[in-house]
Amino acid sequence: MKVTIVGAGAVGASCAEYVAIKDFASEVVILDIKDGLAEGKAMDLMQTASLNGFDTKIKGTTNDYSTTANSDVAVITSGIPRKPGMTREELIGINAGIVKEVSANLIKHSPNVTIIVVSNPMDTMTYLVHKTTGLPKNKIIGMGGALDSARFKYRLSEALDCPTSDVDGMVIGGHSDTGMVPLTRLATRNSVPVSAFLSEERLNKVSEDTKVGGATLTKLLGTSAWYAPGAAVSGLVQAIACDQKKMFPCSAMLEGEYGLNDLCIGVPAIIGKDGLEKIVEIELDDKEKAKIKESAEGVKKTNGLLEL
Ligand SMILES: NC(=O)c1ccc[n+]([C@@H]2O[C@H](COP(=O)([O-])OP(=O)(O)OC[C@H]3O[C@@H](n4cnc5c(N)ncnc54)[C@H](O)[C@@H]3O)[C@@H](O)[C@H]2O)c1
Repeated sequence: MKVTIVGAGAVGASCAEYVAIKDFASEVVILDIKDGLAEGKAMDLMQTASLNGFDTKIKGTTNDYSTTANSDVAVITSGIPRKPGMTREELIGINAGIVKEVSANLIKHSPNVTIIVVSNPMDTMTYLVHKTTGLPKNKIIGMGGALDSARFKYRLSEALDCPTSDVDGMVIGGHSDTGMVPLTRLATRNSVPVSAFLSEERLNKVSEDTKVGGATLTKLLGTSAWYAPGAAVSGLVQAIACDQKKMFPCSAMLEGEYGLNDLCIGVPAIIGKDGLEKIVEIELDDKEKAKIKESAEGVKKTNGLLEL
């Protein structure tokens, strides 16, 4: 399994580290336009191999796509992150051009690649890759829901004062401060609905804290977060590499599912060797349906800013 990560910045490097540490890929290539950055990060990470006990070979390259040839999976993290006070949507002007160019270059050298889109605004960048590359729809996956769900589980475990391993839950909808739909009704602690332990008011706070999870960290860090985003992407890469058929909420191109069409938005999906193998349609209640509809309207508005 050969994995390419475009963007050797905070998220790209974190993703490379988690993929390497999990030791399921034979090769990871990191590519960046900044001279020497990817080579430096790759060398630094390779020097952790004997310490962390992995055999994955990590190479870095400054914008030479021939090094990425025959990648099975490529992760796009190139582009600018938000600064405190910015929304993800404000990044579209710069990131759309980068994502379009990067995905075309990747496919030139790896025609059978599965692309995981991370750059923001992620749902719209995923839609852009669908509209401009001609890759089959199972081979384009947007990463947002895996991260948002991890943040949801963190907030739930905090409210419940329990280990995160006790908690299960999922966030669907758009990957934005207003678009996320944390499914509190379906969240559980060891199969018991969390509503058995937490008041509606406390659950609303968990939801609100989850939705601004990225903004909270951006304010603290001065730039957007990287550990949890990198770990979330590595989970998707591993599910493909190891054909796990694992369910993650991912940004998928919808054609009627959830009553939505012609947009990419976070829905539960089965991830395995063929990429996004199946969209899972779960029964939502009327409130959740209304929230998803509103979230989709927001994503479509941002999609409307693309020059396709
Ligand atoms: N989907 C998510 O859940 C999620 C989570 C966190 C961050 N993000 C997004 O991921 C992106 C990266 O964030 P970051 O914190 O790693 O930013 P960063 O600035 O640390 O890294 C971005 C890297 O991309 C490189 N780059 C820019 N243009 C390029 C090109 N044409 N080809 C190759 N490399 C190029 C830059 O040189 C830089 O090293 C941002 O858009 C951010 O908003 C998404």
